[in-house]
Amino acid sequence: MTKKIGILTSGGDCAGLNAAIDAVAIAAGQRGWETYGIMNGTGGLLGDTPEYVILPKEGLGEVCIRQGGTVLGTTNKGNPFAYPMPDGSVKDRTGEIAENIKKLGIECIIGIGGDGSLEILSGIAKVAGFELVWIPKTIDNDVGETELAIGFDTAVMKATAALDDLQSTAASHDRVMILEVMGRDAGHIALEAGIAGGADVILIPEIPYKINNIVKKMVELKQTGMNYARIIVSEAVKTEDGETPMIDQGKDQIRYGGIGEYIKRQLDSATAAEVRVQVLGHIQRGGSPTWNDRILAKLLGVRAVDLIEQGKFGYMAALQDGKITEVPVDKAVQSCRTVDPKGALVHTARRLGISMGDQG
Ligand code: F6P
Repeated sequence: MTKKIGILTSGGDCAGLNAAIDAVAIAAGQRGWETYGIMNGTGGLLGDTPEYVILPKEGLGEVCIRQGGTVLGTTNKGNPFAYPMPDGSVKDRTGEIAENIKKLGIECIIGIGGDGSLEILSGIAKVAGFELVWIPKTIDNDVGETELAIGFDTAVMKATAALDDLQSTAASHDRVMILEVMGRDAGHIALEAGIAGGADVILIPEIPYKINNIVKKMVELKQTGMNYARIIVSEAVKTEDGETPMIDQGKDQIRYGGIGEYIKRQLDSATAAEVRVQVLGHIQRGGSPTWNDRILAKLLGVRAVDLIEQGKFGYMAALQDGKITEVPVDKAVQSCRTVDPKGALVHTARRLGISMGDQG
């Protein structure tokens, strides 16, 4: 009997997902296995009929692997343990998932997702009785036990390019430009793009700041003859009062957003500077993956299939000490990788004269 494996993408999309799906389809195809691409995350396993495509053994094709997004579709809502039903009730739908996996005859699912999806899917695997192998992806780069997740490199590249582009317009108008970037509770994107793009101030959720310190940095810049500044701020940075600015997206969806505008208001009242705010948003998730993300996707995709062959279920393919390895999924679920305020990157930023907002 032909061995069948499943693959799904879950949580927010990012660049590099198609490259990972492609790598899995080819590596499985080389072994004569069939790869079932499950549509829309766990959404494709709900209801009476599973939604899937059988992936070509030769992969997705040259063009597709360069494209952003995911050919399988994804979702970052609708936890099957507590699924919001149209009538307003909440239902445990994990039984439907177990049933559909049985129908398809799949013995293992490769899940590509971030920490939230990882936790949910590993919970479902336990109750529904299927095996799971994980590939980490998220622009936030906050999955525990791996140095890198697919999508982060491309997001940092986009944020760096945005800072680069803001330089000339900031300098031409003597303005302070604030760039708000994603990252959820981890400041990796802001920190790395801030260093790479030469920001004057980097604000991340891991390091509390004072507006006064930002003002002092602006004064200091002026004294050196610089008439503009660029500030990069991570979306989960709090106000000085400890509030977290949020945006109501409607339909019961709330997400981080607004800290850039808050910082602007504070600088408007504390200084004479002209301040403008850009929110980079979902641009960080789109577009063609960088070569780093493509390589990572292929390394992790091939490793995930190797793990299935070795019967090493319940593991996440990961990057540790620059090498591809695997770690128990449960261990990855337990730890969230945030910025180390005492780490080399923060130290480097400080020694480059970049203000982290905590020192005057
Ligand atoms: O987790 C990825 C991410 O892009 C976060 O950085 C951001 O806070 C969130 O997803 C945005 O979610 P949505 O796509 O639902 O707006």
